[in-house]
Amino acid sequence: MHEEKLKRLATMKKSAESGGGQERIEAQHSKGKLTARERIALLLDEGTFVELDKYVMHRSDDPSIPKLYGDGSVTGFGTIAGRQVFVFSYDFTVLGGSLGEMTGKKIAKAMDHAMKVGCPIIGIIDSGGARIQEGVSSLDAYGDIFFRNAMASGVIPQITASIGPCAGGAVYSPAMTDFVIMVENIGQMFVTGPEVVKEVLSQEVSFEELGGARAHGSKSGVAHFVAKNEYECFDRIKKLVSFLPQNNTEDPAIVETGDDPNRTDPNLINILPENPYQQYDIKEIIKSIIDNGDFFEVHELFAENIVVGFARMGGRSVGIIANQPQFLAGALDINSSSKAARFIRFCDTFNIPVVTLVDTPGYLPGTDQEHNGIIRHGSKLLFAYCEATVPKITCIIGKAYGGAYIAMGSKNLRADVNLAWPNAEIAVLGPEAAVTIIHRKDLKNAADAPATKKKLAKEYRDKFANPYIAAEKGVIDVVIDPMETRPFIIRALDALANKKEPRPWKKHGNINL
Ligand code: HXC
Repeated sequence: MHEEKLKRLATMKKSAESGGGQERIEAQHSKGKLTARERIALLLDEGTFVELDKYVMHRSDDPSIPKLYGDGSVTGFGTIAGRQVFVFSYDFTVLGGSLGEMTGKKIAKAMDHAMKVGCPIIGIIDSGGARIQEGVSSLDAYGDIFFRNAMASGVIPQITASIGPCAGGAVYSPAMTDFVIMVENIGQMFVTGPEVVKEVLSQEVSFEELGGARAHGSKSGVAHFVAKNEYECFDRIKKLVSFLPQNNTEDPAIVETGDDPNRTDPNLINILPENPYQQYDIKEIIKSIIDNGDFFEVHELFAENIVVGFARMGGRSVGIIANQPQFLAGALDINSSSKAARFIRFCDTFNIPVVTLVDTPGYLPGTDQEHNGIIRHGSKLLFAYCEATVPKITCIIGKAYGGAYIAMGSKNLRADVNLAWPNAEIAVLGPEAAVTIIHRKDLKNAADAPATKKKLAKEYRDKFANPYIAAEKGVIDVVIDPMETRPFIIRALDALANKKEPRPWKKHGNINL
């Protein structure tokens, strides 16, 4: 009697675990993709996965769609480096991982659990979108997921891996999560596929060009990370999780990194060229000041004129924001403002201090930027810094002109500790632009205008473009020897660890989206 029951369970289990069947599993492998269960096994600590809703089936009365255990997704919980997480992984072998009523309910249940427990939720997407045969029930299921994405936002970390087609409705839920990672040549995200594009716009475009990992990693910014393969994808997710707390009520763990908090770097100043118009790689400076040079960059390929990412300093998780003089001279534009603003908001939500390194000539001028909304997007950065109540430490290492000085974590946006290198140039305009305006008449009448301009620019730089006027006014707290940047920032992080900064009650702000 017992034996029969156990036998039935074993048969059902085997059937459920084979998803859409051996043939479809082989088809999945032949496309270079792992199955939903293989992916979960790679993501979680070995042997920790507990599957939920394994025997759920669709309830559609359409006889053309097979009833299969699991119905389009594998969901459950397990651990990553010993920390609890919930997961859902679309099963492409079952009706192309399409989302019907019951697949939607499974995913919603996993999300509800993650919210109750207060732990990250990780979604692995490989899906043809709304299940066509289930009609409005499929659309409603998406609505349920989107609602949960919005409720979970800022409460628990939400991470998405796009490893296969993410078509139609399957794209919006990832976009509402905190981080999207796409696998090259496998992950594809699009609202309407190439066939529709051809029909409506008569444009020929491949899946990869339209919505591949490179397109979303570098052009649209939908993908925060691009991984070479599925193995790298799951390694990145595990590393990302290591910087984060379980939820918004906790702080990220302090980790013993073995790097001396008092370590100085006498070579740091030499990375900065003596000529302020010469390019250099800000990542060299970032890597020098963080623990073990271990920088986990976010949006590496998108809006490269600003660099954002996670690191540890004195063992604490920090979010780094830094202008990158190698691209657009480090000027702020639409994409870099949006990129940094969203990253700051993420850090603030999850109690991760923000460390800002400034070297920017200002906001990028021109009709392209103005007409596409630099005012709207550029001000997001101001909004994000103002809103953030986590410890905020800013270090001006080079140029900090005009609006960009204010936007990049200035004192009056409520940064806590503002440092500057002796090389810092803080002014309303850069020397050349400033003298053109304030000495217009002198330059017009000068016998040798270029030489006069050069002389006036030097005088301006000596008089205004230094950190000492700002230090006199107390908007720079300390002018430091660059070699001491790391110990100064770490001491400030320690000092600010228990910072509290109450804000007026509101339902929510109205950030200029
Ligand atoms: C039902 C689907 C499906 C879907 C795929 N399948 N998508 N079944 N509903 N949305 C089924 C296929 O019929 C096929 O079944 C199996 O899954 C595998 O699909 P293939 O096409 O053979 O795989 P592949 O060649 O890899 O192509 C994958 C694909 C393609 C690019 C995703 O299937 C596709 O274009 N699907 C439709 C995408 C789409 O338009 N979805 C609806 C979007 S509208 P068999 O039995 O033949 O193996 C939407 C609205 C929501 O989502 C809006 C909310 C805001």
